[in-house]
Amino acid sequence: KEDDSSTGSSSAGGAKTISLGFSQVGSESGWRSANTTSVKDAAKDAGYNLKFSDAQQKQENQISAIRNFIAQKVDVIAFSPVVVTGWDAVLKEAKAAKIPVVLTDRSVETSDDSLFVTLVGSDFTDEGRRAAKILDKVLTKAGHKGAVKIAQLEGTTGAAPAIERAKGFKEVMDAEHKDWKIVVSQTGDFTRAGGKQVMSAFLQSNPDVNVLFAHNDDMAIGAIQAIEAAGKKPGTDILIVCIDGVKDGFVAMSEGKINAIVECNPLLGPQLMDVVKKVKDGETVERWIKTKESDFMQDQAKAELPNRKY
Ligand code: AHR
Repeated sequence: KEDDSSTGSSSAGGAKTISLGFSQVGSESGWRSANTTSVKDAAKDAGYNLKFSDAQQKQENQISAIRNFIAQKVDVIAFSPVVVTGWDAVLKEAKAAKIPVVLTDRSVETSDDSLFVTLVGSDFTDEGRRAAKILDKVLTKAGHKGAVKIAQLEGTTGAAPAIERAKGFKEVMDAEHKDWKIVVSQTGDFTRAGGKQVMSAFLQSNPDVNVLFAHNDDMAIGAIQAIEAAGKKPGTDILIVCIDGVKDGFVAMSEGKINAIVECNPLLGPQLMDVVKKVKDGETVERWIKTKESDFMQDQAKAELPNRKY
């Protein structure tokens, strides 16, 4: 699905309008919707000709969108890769066509570092570490005694945030909390429906889990429905830590159903437009432009809720 957000080919001052091809992952979560709005609004504000394409969570759709952008000879291609591997061939085609590629939100694994210019996005490994650290605080605050049996709801299999958040969390767990155990872990594909379905299966196979680490808010919200349907109290019987910080996550946290949220900021549009201009003008940019983020405990939720921008 492609839509042109602007059709102009030259700006008021006569300079050529920048054309930007952007391939989005899909619309799997509240985070993603906020990211899409941010990119579209920022492109409009910057006066770019944005060619936006929604991949509906499928790598093959992203590859054909990128080929399309190459055929249309856009100035810059940006995309948020569904998964980390399998990009070399199409990125080589972009390089051969001399079209610079900027990654947003998620990274790729590639054999050749020159195939993309920069990544604008979060440090997902660190988000995983922060989730483990805040879980420690949550356990202390809840006065938790005894075994820590964790259920993990993973993001989309093969996606950078799923791989790296799991890695960062495990790193802190192995180093500092040898008594914690991930007793069950499976993908919920970053969706509410996935979170609900997988959590309900977890509760059947492992009724003694007492912690949920969800790789995003939407899966946590789906899981909350499953926990309530099983007659348990989310945030009390099962302590919940998740990542993103979307409004609905903060609402659930202010209701006591989520214990802590690690923020992952989706409002990448303005930074992306700056980088695109620099790249188009041949300026040197940093290899990774990291997003600044915070962590929130449940007792901060009510005060923070009105400040949430997404
Ligand atoms: O890549 C960022 C992740 O993708 C967000 O945490 C999740 O909500 C989204 O779907």
